[in-house]
Amino acid sequence: MEEGPALTRGRDGTGIDGLDALIEGGFQERKAYLICGEPGTGKTTFCLQFLLKGLGQGEPGVYVTIDEKPSHLIEDAQSMGWDLAPHLDRKELLILDASPYFTNLRLGKERELDVRQIVSDLGKHMKSLGARRLVIDPVAPLIFKEEGQAVVMEYIRSLIFSIEDNLGCTALFTSHMVTGSERLSRFGVEEFIVSGIVLLRIVRAQNRYIRTLFVRKMRGTALDLTEYSFDIVRGRGIVLRQAV
Ligand SMILES: Nc1ncnc2c1ncn2[C@@H]1O[C@H](COP(=O)(O)OP(=O)(O)O)[C@@H](O)[C@H]1O
Ligand SMILES: [Mg+2]
Repeated sequence: MEEGPALTRGRDGTGIDGLDALIEGGFQERKAYLICGEPGTGKTTFCLQFLLKGLGQGEPGVYVTIDEKPSHLIEDAQSMGWDLAPHLDRKELLILDASPYFTNLRLGKERELDVRQIVSDLGKHMKSLGARRLVIDPVAPLIFKEEGQAVVMEYIRSLIFSIEDNLGCTALFTSHMVTGSERLSRFGVEEFIVSGIVLLRIVRAQNRYIRTLFVRKMRGTALDLTEYSFDIVRGRGIVLRQAV
């Protein structure tokens, strides 16, 4: 009997040197992924590389920042040797500051976030660019205390679902991992919903610290569960090295 065509989704290259080979070519198209790690582990660098990879092959992208001003992101990219200005000028890259959506919630003026409004606004921006890649860094802001958690969990859940259902893009969400904690994401829901999880860490190895990357979950993909060390190199960003 002849075999039919494999029903596999197309893959989007991650832009990280050495990573695509470990995950059957990249992230599955139009799926959502979580990039987890403590501050300084390289999440923003990872996301920038992902968008730059798309831009390099004619795929526009949108970067949503919440805890960081767009101007800071542009400066950070500059320090890595990446000039975002031409992409912004050509309107193939858009950086959006989503913090206003959270302001009233933080001030206690509103009890819930209107995720449909957020996704609808985001959708309009993405459509105007023809965006194929989306980054939301971080998926939930740092500002919430315990009492805000139920609201934020519901927001994250519906945000991820409606982005996968409605926006037709491959999306990365970042999540702060609490220092010293085994929990990957701050609220614990993101891990279950997304199609894959990449964990970035800084770990002690003998008398020094090294950066590591571990693909913890990737639906539809055979994983070897090896943790790799990596460097952050100006001009190249995250560069995978050997297994640790
Ligand atoms: N120009 C650069 N060259 C090499 N490494 C850099 C450069 N700029 C930043 N880094 C490294 O990248 C790290 C920050 O990564 P970042 O992606 O911002 O982390 P996160 O978003 O997880 O907080 C810094 O702590 C620094 O070590
Ligand atoms: Mg960051």
